[in-house]
Amino acid sequence: MLPAKLEEIESSALAAIEAAAGEEAIEQVRVEVLGRKGALAAISKEMGKVPPAERAALGKLLNRVKEAVEGRLAARQEEFAARALQARLDAEWLDLTLPAPGVRMGSLHPITQIQTEIEDLFISMGFTVLDGPECETEYRNFDALNIPPHHPARDMQDTFWLANGHLLRTHTSPVQVRGMEKLGPPLRMIAPGRVFRNESVDASHEHTFYQLEGMMVDRDVSVAHLLYFMKTLLTGIFHREVTVRLRPGYFPFVEPGFELDIACLICGGGGCPVCKQSGWLELLPCGLVHPNVLRFGGIDPEDWNGFAFGLGLTRLAMMKYAIADIRLLQSGDLRFLRQF
Ligand code: PHE
Repeated sequence: MLPAKLEEIESSALAAIEAAAGEEAIEQVRVEVLGRKGALAAISKEMGKVPPAERAALGKLLNRVKEAVEGRLAARQEEFAARALQARLDAEWLDLTLPAPGVRMGSLHPITQIQTEIEDLFISMGFTVLDGPECETEYRNFDALNIPPHHPARDMQDTFWLANGHLLRTHTSPVQVRGMEKLGPPLRMIAPGRVFRNESVDASHEHTFYQLEGMMVDRDVSVAHLLYFMKTLLTGIFHREVTVRLRPGYFPFVEPGFELDIACLICGGGGCPVCKQSGWLELLPCGLVHPNVLRFGGIDPEDWNGFAFGLGLTRLAMMKYAIADIRLLQSGDLRFLRQF
């Protein structure tokens, strides 16, 4: 009777192993058949009741069934493990022969590029690069530059006033004042930076743009010195000889004051749409430092004088790279920035 039971256990166990869908089902068969309380263990317990003559044969049969079930279990388990591994390999497959995506390098903003070029040039001529705050006092932005309250020149620069009575600097010229206060004469300084005007924005006007201020104070500084440095500056920027002219220009902090023009870089002076047929491009305001400004800076105009200029870095970048819309410069648009 027991042998028949054993055969029955074996065939149903093998069938269950064959039908198992996964490792859990197989584990269940193992527990039910081979476990401590499983079917084979139950048979073992009954062995004592079997007549000794039959016991050896039955023991043999029991072992054979046990080995057969264990063998199939192990084989199926291996099968499931291989299948799981294959599934994982399929899911994680990588084509290692594909070319790697290139690393895209960033680039310096066009204004930063021009600014560092000009800084290097002036540093090589003994100038110090100064920094000033974007939030300025009314005194340094206006009064100390010979623009007293109610002076009409204040209207030239629409100002963002702050609640605390200070303002967003409308030009980099207040750094002239800081330079005189800090360095004293003789001095050579430039000051690049951001400036702000309360303007409506369009293709050629921004509320935020960049200037680069320059100032030199020494003994017997003349317009000839100013011209020399400006010509050196322009050759440095445009990498070629440029023709310049000075026109009178009014700024309260310089006397005499000039607008410096360069012969049009496109047509060379003959006239074209870029220079509006005039042959000239207006490039930078400049002049000899007004005695009042020196005085505000604690410098005696009887002993010292100097020149100053204010280069529009934003405008210069637009000219150099033929950028038609000023708004692009602060747009953060990568399609634009990646061209530099
Ligand atoms: N600060 C003037 C402006 O922004 C420019 C300037 C600077 C003019 C230095 C003369 C000398 O309009």
